[in-house]
Amino acid sequence: MAPLGGGNAFKLGLFGLNTDGGIAITKVAERWRARWDEIAEVAQLADRIGLDFILPIARWKGYGGETNVRNASFETLTHGAALAALTKRIAIFSTVHVPLVHPVFAAKALATIDHVSHGRAGLNIVCGWNQDEFDMFGQGQSAHDARYEQGREWLEIVERIFKSEGRPFDYKGRFYVLKGVSGEPAPVQQPRPVTMSAASSPAGRDFAVRTSDFLFTTFGDLDKAKAQLADIAVRSTTAGTGKTLSVFTACHVVCRETDRDAQDYYRHYAAENADTAAVDFHIGMTAANRQVDTVVLQDRVRRAAGLSSYPLVGTPERIAGQLADIHTLGYAGTSLSFVNFRDELPFFAQRVLPLLVARGLRAA
Ligand SMILES: Cc1cc2nc3c(=O)[nH]c(=O)nc-3n(C[C@H](O)[C@H](O)[C@H](O)COP(=O)(O)O)c2cc1C
Repeated sequence: MAPLGGGNAFKLGLFGLNTDGGIAITKVAERWRARWDEIAEVAQLADRIGLDFILPIARWKGYGGETNVRNASFETLTHGAALAALTKRIAIFSTVHVPLVHPVFAAKALATIDHVSHGRAGLNIVCGWNQDEFDMFGQGQSAHDARYEQGREWLEIVERIFKSEGRPFDYKGRFYVLKGVSGEPAPVQQPRPVTMSAASSPAGRDFAVRTSDFLFTTFGDLDKAKAQLADIAVRSTTAGTGKTLSVFTACHVVCRETDRDAQDYYRHYAAENADTAAVDFHIGMTAANRQVDTVVLQDRVRRAAGLSSYPLVGTPERIAGQLADIHTLGYAGTSLSFVNFRDELPFFAQRVLPLLVARGLRAA
């Protein structure tokens, strides 16, 4: 886990730089447009200020509505290779759809990023939910829990390629039957690049416990977060892996000099200027294909603000306190997303990061 092994007790990264709108569903003019030069600039800033990871969304199609938000996005493996060349120390994740990207291809692409970055590549496994975009590939989906069975075969193949040392192997599973598989070079990180998987359901948690270094997931409120972490600890024990799985969560941020300013802006972009048709589409597609907290799912403002991630809205002091609470609960870190990363990350860096250092959450 070299790229995430550094001295920060609570890891921080950016989520959604590669997609238009970031993780918001808003019509405000200043919303994130995912232009390449701006992505590169923000990634380099994140690298300089010591953030731990860049995590892209895997998305192939927009959510309709007035903005058709997420219709523009950069593919995550090629995005990762480019950012690997432009940064020096931050971990660069690629979010990969198991049913859409063949494991032999994924292994080679990941190894490429790991070499370009000298050992900073990360894999974020997503097993699928959005049938609307799978239809573009002529691809159906297995029953919910079977998607994770495919994920296990998929990752097993990737890992076997990484340790194959030039000796081809055959693979016979339920989802993949492959002959004479090989792939070199092996990645710099051994036995494989740092691996995370994104899910909410019990099956998704079990998959992460058995396969990944981190689970990436969201929580409704701090009480539900406590229950979620307890459940993951039990699943880790049951799986007998010898460790409790580390968990990253996701937050969206509006940080301003006053709470009032932050709350006003939050209401402005996520309530008054939500792209309501796209929000409806996202809620409908999620309800049909994912096992999520239904209370959070129906919260339309939170969905427009940052999907089902946790809101950090207020002064630097308030947000530092919220992050400390999340750390105390037991999360290993969180992703951060902003309405406009380029406009808002510098203020966060100047005002919130020092408070996290003072609280012992981050190295100086
Ligand atoms: C925090 C988080 C981030 C996710 N990011 C993506 C993504 O970038 N692309 C994607 O297609 N699915 C993404 N997903 C969806 C999951 O990978 C999974 O397919 C979905 O949650 C349905 O499975 P579940 O019911 O087991 O949670 C994400 C899920 C979570 C919780």
